[in-house]
Amino acid sequence: MSIERTARIYVAGHTGLAGSALVRSLRAKGFTNLLLRKHAELELTDAAAVRRFFEAERPEHVIVAAAKVGGILANDTYPADFIHQNLAIGNNVIHEAWRSGVGRLLYLGSSCIYPRDCPQPMKEEYLLTGPLEPTNRAYALAKIAGIETCWSYNRQHGTRFLAVMPTNLFGPQDHYDLQNSHALPALIRKAHEAKMRGERDLVIWGTGRPKREFMYSDDMADACVFLLTLDESRYAALSAPAVAPLINVGTGQDLTIAELAALVCEVVGFRGGIAHDTTKPDGTPRKLLDVSKLQALGWRSRVSLREGIERAYADFRARFERAAA
Ligand SMILES: NC(=O)c1ccc[n+]([C@@H]2O[C@H](COP(=O)([O-])OP(=O)(O)OC[C@H]3O[C@@H](n4cnc5c(N)ncnc54)[C@H](OP(=O)(O)O)[C@@H]3O)[C@@H](O)[C@H]2O)c1
Repeated sequence: MSIERTARIYVAGHTGLAGSALVRSLRAKGFTNLLLRKHAELELTDAAAVRRFFEAERPEHVIVAAAKVGGILANDTYPADFIHQNLAIGNNVIHEAWRSGVGRLLYLGSSCIYPRDCPQPMKEEYLLTGPLEPTNRAYALAKIAGIETCWSYNRQHGTRFLAVMPTNLFGPQDHYDLQNSHALPALIRKAHEAKMRGERDLVIWGTGRPKREFMYSDDMADACVFLLTLDESRYAALSAPAVAPLINVGTGQDLTIAELAALVCEVVGFRGGIAHDTTKPDGTPRKLLDVSKLQALGWRSRVSLREGIERAYADFRARFERAAA
């Protein structure tokens, strides 16, 4: 392994869906010296606070899993918040990481950086080849700026920063409020509530025909730790100044929303039917990441979708039932 298990690794955003999975994965692999700061302790949009933190703590490696994240409605309603906060987080953390001599840095983006009508599966090289989806363009552009910032520092300053683009995630610490949640956590909650209320049908948006990819957060974290700890020559090749330091993280498999809904109902134990509200839009027909670059390095997804949904539902119930008690 290329990184000492005692290395100081700062995980920004460690209380979130992705960040908490990264902490679990690092700890499970024996990393004992994690630097963690809650949002209330360190405001990453505050450049002076971020500088003080890096100067005082001197992390050796960094994972940036902090971001203002939300569903379509939040992205569409508050685009200024999404672009302002995410540009500031990327700018402050990447800049201070360079200033303080951080060795390896992973910056988490998202598959929404690719064009709305991107050829499928989406390869890293398709970045900036077409117009973005308008509803989350502000967020996507902030994330694209993060990738470009990593690359620019690699080119100008010889840093070795890598931008990692995970597919749709779900898992412990997910958001289940229906205004703000993503497709899979929303389905888990709706199926659970339909079961509890004894409803006849679970209503899902659109025809159910679009295909999407979902990854359990711990699986994504495993891929990130794999990348962070790659041997020197392979890590150097990924973060070399001449190449865009961008790599997709996904399972390589997709399914239709109708298939997903059926699987969620099975796991949750909702035995009613599935009804389609076809007055609601379907969105793009297919969204699947091309993960051949990651797989060529030797990483494979290990958590099946069913197993991930089972674990996520157990976490949902634990939180939901604790809150109700
Ligand atoms: N969720 C997905 O499906 C998905 C898919 C692909 C990629 N990703 C990427 O993964 C990253 C994290 O997403 P997530 O889903 O884990 O989001 P999340 O659950 O909302 O977690 C975000 C984390 O960042 C912290 N944070 C937000 N703004 C901050 C600020 N200004 N200063 C300090 N900390 C701040 C949050 O703390 P508070 O909660 O206390 O504010 C939280 O710990 C993002 O880059 C996202 O694009 C997510």
